[in-house]
Amino acid sequence: MFCLTYLLFVASAYAVLLPNATGPYSVGVSVHTLTDATRMDPYAPDDKPHERKVLISAFVPLNSTTTPCVSRSTLYMTPLVARDYDTLAASAGLSNETFTSLRMQLCDIPRGKSCFNGHGQRPDISKPSRPLLLFSPGFGQSRLLYGAMARSLASEGYVVITVDHPYDASVVEFPDGSFTRAANISTDDIAALEMVIQVRASDISFVIDQLQNVTALRQSIDHSAVRIDFDRIIMYGHSLGGAAAAATMLSDKRIRGGVNLDGRFFSPVKELGLERPFLNIGRPNHRSDDPTWDEFQQSMRAQSIELAIAGTTHSSFTDYPLIVSALGLTETAKKSLEDFLGTGQWDRVGDIIKRLVVAFDDLVFEHKTPKILQGADTKFPEVELVRSKPS
Ligand SMILES: *[C@@H]1O[C@H](CO)[C@@H](O)[C@H](O)[C@H]1NC(C)=O
Ligand SMILES: *[C@@H]1O[C@H](CO)[C@@H](O)[C@H](O)[C@H]1NC(C)=O
Ligand SMILES: *[C@@H]1O[C@H](CO)[C@@H](O)[C@H](O)[C@H]1NC(C)=O
Ligand SMILES: *[C@@H]1O[C@H](CO)[C@@H](O)[C@H](O)[C@H]1NC(C)=O
Ligand SMILES: *[C@@H]1O[C@H](CO)[C@@H](O)[C@H](O)[C@H]1NC(C)=O
Repeated sequence: MFCLTYLLFVASAYAVLLPNATGPYSVGVSVHTLTDATRMDPYAPDDKPHERKVLISAFVPLNSTTTPCVSRSTLYMTPLVARDYDTLAASAGLSNETFTSLRMQLCDIPRGKSCFNGHGQRPDISKPSRPLLLFSPGFGQSRLLYGAMARSLASEGYVVITVDHPYDASVVEFPDGSFTRAANISTDDIAALEMVIQVRASDISFVIDQLQNVTALRQSIDHSAVRIDFDRIIMYGHSLGGAAAAATMLSDKRIRGGVNLDGRFFSPVKELGLERPFLNIGRPNHRSDDPTWDEFQQSMRAQSIELAIAGTTHSSFTDYPLIVSALGLTETAKKSLEDFLGTGQWDRVGDIIKRLVVAFDDLVFEHKTPKILQGADTKFPEVELVRSKPS
C-alpha cells in the first residue's frame, strides 16, 4: 500500500471538498441497512450469530429542472471508516485527517419521495426509468472509497448502488452506530477468497431482490422518486469486487453485463466463462502478473474486451486519484505517491473509468461499440485496447 518514509506537506486545518461530478444530472444519496432473513452470516462471531446484513449507498440521478437540488456538503466517509483510511494516509506522509475532513457535494433527496419506486404505489410512469449499476469494492475496502466514482456515474443518469460486504471490509459502520470489523480471512487462501466471492454474489442478488420487492422497499428503503429499469442492470467492481461481478453474473441472470477494474478471477467463473458481455479494465500489463485474465478470456462465450489505462496502478481504480489531486500536493509529494497511484493525470482517471462504464452500457444495451472501447478515442489516449473477443 502506502510506503513513504518522510512527511509531506498537506494543509489539514480545513475541509477538502472533492470536485463536483460533471454529468447532466445532480445526484442525491441515501444509505440503507438491508437484512437477509434467509441467510445466517457465515462470518459472524461464534458467540453472536446473526442474519446476514449488508449496507448500501444508493446514488440517484435527479433532474434539476423537475427536482431542484438542495445541495449539501457531506462527509465523504463516516468517522470510523475515515479513521482507518487516515491511518493509511498518515503512513504515506499525508495528514492524519485527510479522510476525516474530506467532503463532497450531494443533493438532499426530497422528503417523502426519495429514491425508488416503492411506497406500494404504482411506479410513476411519468418518470423515466433508470439503468442500475451495482458496485462491489476491493477486498478489505469500504464502499465509501468509491463514492465519488458512483456519484459521477449517477450524474450520467444511472442509479448506482455501492455495497459494503461485512467482515471482509476492514470496517463497516452502520447508520445505527454499530459496526463490524474484518474477520480473519487470509488473502493467500484461495478457497477462503472463493467463499468471500460467493457470499458477495449472494449479497448482490439479495440487493436486487430487495429493490424489486415493493413490500421490502416500503419497509427498508421507502422511496419513490426514481424508477429502476431492471432489464438494464450492470455490475462493476474493483479487484476482488471485479471477480465478484463475474461470479454474480454466473449465478444471477438479471445482471446483463459486468466490468472488472483490475481484479483477478477465481473459480468457477474463471473456467466457465460467461454468456453475457464483460469488460476488463486494468493497469498496463495486468496480464503479465495475473494469468487468470488469459484463462477467463479463453472461457468467455460472449463479447469480452480488455483495456489498459496508461499510467495506472491497482490502486488507481478507486477514488484515491481524485482525492489526491484535490489535496493540492506539492510536486515532490506527488512524485512520492507515484509508486502507489501511478504516473497518469490523477484528475482524469475517474472520468476515464466513468466514460468506459457508460460506453460499455451502450455496448450491452444499444449494441454499439464506442471508440473509447476500441482504444481509439483521441480524447482519451490513455486507453489502450489490449484484446477483444470476438476480435
Ligand atoms: C429534465 O427534465 C426536463 C423536463 O421534463 C427535460 O426537458 C430534460 O431533458 C431533463 N434533463 C435530463 C438531463 O434528463
Ligand atoms: C456543486 O454542485 C452543487 C449541486 O449539487 C452546487 O450547489 C454547487 O454550487 C457546486 N459547486 C461547485 C464548486 O460548482
Ligand atoms: C494527528 O496528528 C497530529 C499532529 O501530527 C496529532 O497531534 C494528532 O493526535 C493526530 N491525530 C490522530 C487521530 O492520530
Ligand atoms: C488467522 O488465521 C490464521 C490461519 O488462517 C491463523 O494462523 C491466525 O492465528 C489467525 N489470527 C487470528 C487473530 O485469529
Ligand atoms: C418481499 O419482502 C417482504 C418483506 O421483507 C418479505 O416478507 C417477502 O418474502 C419478500 N418477497 C419476496 C418475493 O422476496
